[in-house]
Amino acid sequence: MNFFWKIILFFVVIRYGFFGLLFPWISQLAVGAPNLLPAPAAALSMYTWLMMVAIAIYILSSEERSVDFMSPVHQFLKPQTSLLKKGIQLVVMVTIPLFGGWSYFDSNSPKMVSPTAVRIQHPTMPGSFEDMENPMRHPTDEQVEEFIVEQKELAEEAADDEEMEPVNVPSNKKEGRLALIAKWTEEGAALYAVNCRPCHGMQADGVGPMAVGWRLQPANFRDPGTIATIVEEYAFWRVSKGGPGLPSASTPWDSAMPIWDLDLTEDERWKLLLGEYFLAGVGPRQTEKLE
Ligand code: HEC
Repeated sequence: MNFFWKIILFFVVIRYGFFGLLFPWISQLAVGAPNLLPAPAAALSMYTWLMMVAIAIYILSSEERSVDFMSPVHQFLKPQTSLLKKGIQLVVMVTIPLFGGWSYFDSNSPKMVSPTAVRIQHPTMPGSFEDMENPMRHPTDEQVEEFIVEQKELAEEAADDEEMEPVNVPSNKKEGRLALIAKWTEEGAALYAVNCRPCHGMQADGVGPMAVGWRLQPANFRDPGTIATIVEEYAFWRVSKGGPGLPSASTPWDSAMPIWDLDLTEDERWKLLLGEYFLAGVGPRQTEKLE
């Protein structure tokens, strides 16, 4: 066997015989693993390159070895007389560049594969929203007192006017507070019907009449993976800043969710959340407190 083929054989035996076949088996024996332990591809490719460089240095460092190594190549490239040899020469000279070109094209051409990026539905909310709390869930004493006074006046009016429905007057502050939250929830639900229903649906199930138009479907608030899994200030951020407020981690499909702080006041947005959670029949997630 001439020097050229010895080198090729040496390379194949070490690279594929030893590292490809023997090494996984030896590693398995050494650590007693239940299956073969192949070398990591990155380490293997690094080792392959090092091996090729070492072989090249070995060959090129001696005139004699360089001539020996190249002689079959020169032999092959010499003008041939027999038709068969000419044919083989032609096939090799055509296939090597074709193969090189094809593998380069194959590794660099764009491929039709679905994006691996997974959309992040709930990225971290901006810090400015973190310490917020829905004021509509905690009416102040003054608000409750004011509400009771209003209810009393309404009740007096209703007593004189037969066309008005009778009005309930809360008998104490506790009752007044609950009644006030109920009133705000109702107002929130009305805001929801006007602004959110087209996309999120009257049942808060994400299938409003406009929902079909979006690639990224409006959130279904009855699904436990949506508003039930986020704290209320998070929902407030999403309602206030909409799709454009989301970071790029929430692409590749951009959200059609509008920015509501342009159209609704802060109080309206908090009320809206009362209505939204009520309609969906779920509550916001409670912040875990460390005891
Ligand atoms: C033009 C259609 C559209 C309208 C109108 C709309 N939304 Fe959305 N909304 C979406 C889409 C689409 C998503 C899902 C993508 C996302 O998270 O941004 C969404 C998501 C949300 C989320 C995030 C839920 C979660 O768990 O991540 C909240 C909260 C929300 N909407 C509240 C509202 C409220 C409240 C209104 C009314 C004031 C409203 N939306 C009106 C389209 C809409």
